[in-house]
Amino acid sequence: MGVDRSEIIVLGGSSGEHIAIGISRILNLELGSIEVKKFPDGETYIRILDDVRDKVVIYVNSLQKGPNDLIIETLYTIDTLYDLGAKEVHLVVPYMAYARQDSRFNPGEALSIASLAKLMRFVKPKAIYTVDMHLHRIRDPESLFGVKFFNLTAVRELARYVASHHNVRDYVIVGPDEESEQWAKIMADELGLNYTILEKRRISAEEVIIEARDKVVSGKSVVIVDDIISTGGTMVEAFKALKNLGAKDIILTCVHPLLVGNALNKLLRLQPKDLACTDTVLSPISKVKVAPVIASKLKDVLKL
Ligand code: R5P
Repeated sequence: MGVDRSEIIVLGGSSGEHIAIGISRILNLELGSIEVKKFPDGETYIRILDDVRDKVVIYVNSLQKGPNDLIIETLYTIDTLYDLGAKEVHLVVPYMAYARQDSRFNPGEALSIASLAKLMRFVKPKAIYTVDMHLHRIRDPESLFGVKFFNLTAVRELARYVASHHNVRDYVIVGPDEESEQWAKIMADELGLNYTILEKRRISAEEVIIEARDKVVSGKSVVIVDDIISTGGTMVEAFKALKNLGAKDIILTCVHPLLVGNALNKLLRLQPKDLACTDTVLSPISKVKVAPVIASKLKDVLKL
């Protein structure tokens, strides 16, 4: 038997409210609120404004730009929810920070995602739901985080957006690097198209070199898909490499538009045919909602 709807409340943290609203509307669940503010010295103040005693709480917070503050907010909120008597807390993290630091690339480096996983284990969410986490070297996030872990994909929704706004019959899907093959494959499958991937070498956090050898893009239009746009360097270099190979129209897509610094301007200057990402991170190009994908998994898990 599933959980009774009246026993569930959906709460959004300072970076998750828009998705919490979407989930509560789709699943017809009560929406509560949390007050989050900053003390003058930078400490975080949190106050749960609803009665959560004996409730199943769906708590949403995206660990996007400024992840360190958001991590503290998330951990303190979950701890407080249990302290106030919540029965279980389902943690929805639409964008999981630190997933790219999943290896000790240089001696002495922090394995940041493993440390974050340990902290999350400590506050005992019942389950964690995330979207297109940058899982490259981590094969089993469930054992890393020590709780039920659902890594959902929003790439099919992105693909449907692209198909409903453009005639993509003759397009090729391109992943800008080896790690993006998983997303290129899903988009290609959803659109019934071919895909290829480019070769990327990272010089620094801001600089990458991309080579495109596969002539299949010559004379074709292209959808580039990646998980994250951070500085925009990867997309800019991929765009240029594809144009050099003779690609026609290029649509840029990603799941998580972090868009740090002047990334959005760099992308707009390329004049792509379209620029579309999801709302795991809110931005002017967050055109695709992830709440339906998350709500559908919560519906299954909570047997609603
Ligand atoms: C890294 O491998 C990711 O998949 C993205 O390609 C990367 O984070 C994009 O970063 P940037 O926009 O700074 O090139």
